Amino acid sequence: MALSSKITGVGSFVPERVVTNHDLEKMMNTSDEWIQQRTGIVERRWVDANTSTSDLALKASVEAIENAGIDKNDLDMIIFATLSPDHDFPGAGCFLQDKLGVPGIPTLDIRQQCTGFLYAMSIADKFIKSGSNKNILVIGAEIHSKGLDRSPEGRNVGVLFGDGAGAIVMSATDVKDDKADSHIINCHLHCDGSYAKELWLPGPGTGFNSENRCDQKMLDEGLHFPQMNGKVVFVNAVKKMSQSLINLCKESEVKFEDIDLFLFHQANLRINSKLAEMMGIPEEKVFNTIQKYGNTTAATIPLGMHDAVKEGKLKPGMLVASAAFGSGFTWASSLYRF
Ligand code: ACO
Repeated sequence: MALSSKITGVGSFVPERVVTNHDLEKMMNTSDEWIQQRTGIVERRWVDANTSTSDLALKASVEAIENAGIDKNDLDMIIFATLSPDHDFPGAGCFLQDKLGVPGIPTLDIRQQCTGFLYAMSIADKFIKSGSNKNILVIGAEIHSKGLDRSPEGRNVGVLFGDGAGAIVMSATDVKDDKADSHIINCHLHCDGSYAKELWLPGPGTGFNSENRCDQKMLDEGLHFPQMNGKVVFVNAVKKMSQSLINLCKESEVKFEDIDLFLFHQANLRINSKLAEMMGIPEEKVFNTIQKYGNTTAATIPLGMHDAVKEGKLKPGMLVASAAFGSGFTWASSLYRF
């Protein structure tokens, strides 16, 4: 018997407002055809003005806790992955903890962008394996719409992203049969900061040659909007996610053909098709949600996980592989028996 962690509950939430590619055609010089052909995205969700990231997270968290069959007071930690927190500080986890009504337990905000959820899962796994924690709420939630350039100039990034939240409860478990019992098998985490400026949000920040972290010049130059070198991201995403997954499976002595479901980050349908093609994974084993949500960064994997459960494609006991890539560049892979 070995102390491990497993996913005991999953929840998700997306805002009601659907924004189609045709809606974007009215704001930007883009077309439904361009967006679908290059990315696979058909629509995404955007929040209303009065919604914050921790509001989305709260809804996903309540559902995950309920599905885990525990009381919220059984939680002993919150790990919140987001690049779009309610405020710069304190972290979104503090706001969520208050809204959830679980005072006193530690909250940890992490960044790591599109890879954030896999980093968060891995951190939770380690806390649980150390014996210090029993039930950790792990969240990925993002509001991108409030940070995008929705003018005609913003089209190259603006069409890609959507809002949403996903949450899981990870609980301690004793694994007797590691080929059958639900548990996190292995995670690999990576970063190469020399690519930091290929996909980033320059401002506001202290990295400017300015006495203020936010000034008029920064706003005039649009540096408070995400900047991306799409082609560099594309090539590296395919390369790094496949390498990480191959190494992880090798180290864990798991064959690709034994994996029941692949839940990849959703940045671009073409990235995931290329990944599946390179690794010889049948398309039906890859669960994609980008068509309806766009790229929801840290929320993507738990959101997809919950959709897969609801659609009956992810069932207890299945062997799942996840991989993600994002700003940093950061990337990660994870193997778990659901
Ligand atoms: N609508 C219409 N035309 C557009 C749009 C748009 N939304 N955006 C760019 N274009 C134009 C460009 O201006 C360019 O025009 P030009 O040839 O006249 O100069 C043309 O389309 C081609 O632009 P490219 O940037 O070369 O297009 P590319 O084929 O590389 O596709 C894309 C762009 C979809 C972003 C692609 O590079 C990509 O998928 N990169 C991966 C990055 C990614 O998915 N990022 C998501 C966030 S990161 C993450 O989650 C990992």
